[in-house]
Amino acid sequence: MKTAVYPGSFDPVTYGHIDIIERAAKLFDKVIVLVSMNPVKPADFSTSERVNFLERCVKPGNVVIDSHTGLFIDYFKEKNADVIVKGLRAMSDFEYEFQMALLNKDMCHTAETIFLSANAASMFLSSSAVKQIAMFGGDISAFVHHAILSDVTSKLKIK
Ligand code: PNS
Repeated sequence: MKTAVYPGSFDPVTYGHIDIIERAAKLFDKVIVLVSMNPVKPADFSTSERVNFLERCVKPGNVVIDSHTGLFIDYFKEKNADVIVKGLRAMSDFEYEFQMALLNKDMCHTAETIFLSANAASMFLSSSAVKQIAMFGGDISAFVHHAILSDVTSKLKIK
């Protein structure tokens, strides 16, 4: 039984994240999507909002949504997980993701990070860009699941 953990800010979850979650769910017995804290990127949505958004967009099956505020690798060890899943978009992601993969491996020698390439439509998609579009009243329906679209836009739109 192989358990994968997919950590991220998911602030908010986009179709790019959903694609990675659905593909990871086909590769592993269990996938934990973990809303984590990125100390250098304060979130616009609370942890419970981000968890709730994920729960509304992701088919349950073998996918579980959870959150954690501490060091990611402590959670990974506590769950006896096998693999860390990350999505890799354009080259700009590479150095940052590689650094995290190596540091996590340093702290837990059994922690293998597997990168899934973003699909073509999500290659340049990011939660930050989506938030900026929404703030200024742009249409984000191509990037954010319809189940959460109105909650995301109503919170972000500058009135
Ligand atoms: O979606 P993001 O912002 O790129 O995700 C980054 C995240 C949340 C996965 C990363 O910041 C993280 O793992 N945070 C938890 C704290 C931690 O363990 N930091 C050290 C990572 S080597």
